[in-house]
Amino acid sequence: ATQLVDEAKREVAHEAAMMVTDGQVLGLGTGSTAHYFIEKLGERIKEEEIELMGIPTSYQSFFLARDCGIPLTTLDEHLPDLAVDGADEVDPQLNLIKGGGAAHTLEKIVDSAADKFLVIVDESKEVQKLGDFPVPLEVIPSAYRPVTEWVKAAGGVPSLRMAQMKDGPVITDNNNFVVDVQFKNIPNPYELEIALNSIPGVVENGIFAGIADQVLIATSNGVKSLEK
Ligand code: A5P
Repeated sequence: ATQLVDEAKREVAHEAAMMVTDGQVLGLGTGSTAHYFIEKLGERIKEEEIELMGIPTSYQSFFLARDCGIPLTTLDEHLPDLAVDGADEVDPQLNLIKGGGAAHTLEKIVDSAADKFLVIVDESKEVQKLGDFPVPLEVIPSAYRPVTEWVKAAGGVPSLRMAQMKDGPVITDNNNFVVDVQFKNIPNPYELEIALNSIPGVVENGIFAGIADQVLIATSNGVKSLEK
């Protein structure tokens, strides 16, 4: 099954990479699906001699893009024509939960700054309603305790994300903690996104409501597209 999911991610990422045109500035997403997109962009630059520039959304995509020979730039110099990124959940209105890789803060900045934001997922990410996947919050470490109290008062169950290869918590690219919050249900993603960001000490949360323009979903019958 993992091999099939991997193949689906590659397929949808390649389709997105083929939508890129010469001269574009691209927002480069983070995660295993965006990985395939970045690799394919690198191949297209070499084989077709097209000129592209990338704006990474994490150290992970920064290192990968550099290894793939994609010239890099910043939001200070260019705004992306197109941002391509994965997601952890996608609902039928194109609202997302992201941040499974702890990169959602910069992802939201780059993805929102793009003329067009394209999401690439395999069908396991498609849901009728957001919320089975816990909502990641990037939290300033010293605010950890009060943030968890706020979250509990709002009906969420918070859990500090722990690191795999080190003792202690995950530290984000911006030197913060990640608190994953399970909600019983999310009746209105827009309202929850705003409410969570208004808690003092929350830098950004992983709900992306109304930001995506198009979602490509790899299914067993090929790639399908959801559009705004
Ligand atoms: C990174 O923080 C996330 O938002 C990723 O974009 C998301 O977790 C999707 O990752 P995969 O493509 O690896 O499933």
